[in-house]
Amino acid sequence: MIHVALLGFGVVGSGTAEVLTQNQSIIEKKVGQAVNIKYILDLRDFPDSPFADRVVHDFQIIANDPEVSVVAEMLGGSHPAYEFTVACLKAGKSVVTSNKEVVANFGTELLALAREHGVSYLFEASVGGGIPIIRPLREDLASNNVTAISGILNGTTNYILTRMDTEGASFEDVLKDAQKLGYAEANPAADVEGLDAARKIVILAAMAFGKRIDPNTILCEGITGITAADSELAGEMGYAIKLIGYTTRVDGKILAMVSPRLVPLGNPIHGVNGVFNGILVTADMVGQVMFYGPGAGKLPTASAVAGDLIDVMGHTPAGIHSPVWVDATLDEIADPDTYVCRHLVVLDAHESDVGYLETVFGGLNAVHYTEGRFSFITEEMTEAAVKACIEAVDYPLVTRIRVL
Ligand code: HSE
Repeated sequence: MIHVALLGFGVVGSGTAEVLTQNQSIIEKKVGQAVNIKYILDLRDFPDSPFADRVVHDFQIIANDPEVSVVAEMLGGSHPAYEFTVACLKAGKSVVTSNKEVVANFGTELLALAREHGVSYLFEASVGGGIPIIRPLREDLASNNVTAISGILNGTTNYILTRMDTEGASFEDVLKDAQKLGYAEANPAADVEGLDAARKIVILAAMAFGKRIDPNTILCEGITGITAADSELAGEMGYAIKLIGYTTRVDGKILAMVSPRLVPLGNPIHGVNGVFNGILVTADMVGQVMFYGPGAGKLPTASAVAGDLIDVMGHTPAGIHSPVWVDATLDEIADPDTYVCRHLVVLDAHESDVGYLETVFGGLNAVHYTEGRFSFITEEMTEAAVKACIEAVDYPLVTRIRVL
């Protein structure tokens, strides 16, 4: 029998207990032996839960129990999740996690620690909820040079943007629904301001390029500045506005960024709506592959945690090819100002200004003029160049959104 401990009995933790119980027989067949949830660590008691008798409040009980060989960390937040993970790995226990904050902030160190102690550190559930993406990057696409990854990586913001777009619903009302449905972070600012997606794109960049970038340093813009008028304009132009995590190499350096983007109708990500995530991987041998599915929520995320648990329980650590990350040095990280794309620019300008704007920006596409708002899409230009043009024309900027 394998004894497992769950750290955290919130949305994902309780979902994982449910998956392990409901699908116990198929899981045990795959693992080859019985699986017992021996402990559940949480600050709270759950007297009405069928797992009430497993709940403990002292992490040391788990750390010091040699029978527990596998731990699922689903606490959220960096601390004490990081310290608990370190203690488990040092005690020779494999750890699987849904905690993207810990993976993005400390992944390099934790993967090295797992290797040093002959155990595994797996984090399929940290990106894309129930979508398999970490394991495919680690295994199925291992022979490829990944050239770019673009993805809708946050279910809460995609849910908000979709409902704002299709129902004209208000930002606040939809956010409340996302919280009720268990999609949003404890502090939803991490969702709407893009930090959750930043952590996820950092994890994907590290899977693709082997280098971890500090998620707090990347270009990160959320969706709080997106208005119903922006959505409507994008729709008229044949685009949808999505919060996109993007990583690529620019002149050999790694670029990772999160921002709202105009996604064109033909891009497979255009149709990814609601809580769903979509991740498009471009690589030299495979071409393009798209990963799609529920990006947040109790059972989908728990499904990914349970998949990692089964992987760990069914193999010796030597049988799992853990990624090796190193922290990127400053000279390996691209300056976002060098990134080239097209931009939707909306200025408080007049129709008659078209000639002047054309001269400064060097070509305007999809020109729109409505009630004092002059909108157009630029040619491909760097961040630095588009910012300089906007400053040069000196018309109040209503919005600028990058095109994917
Ligand atoms: N708050 C996250 C999201 C949960 O909305 O995508 C899944 O990581």
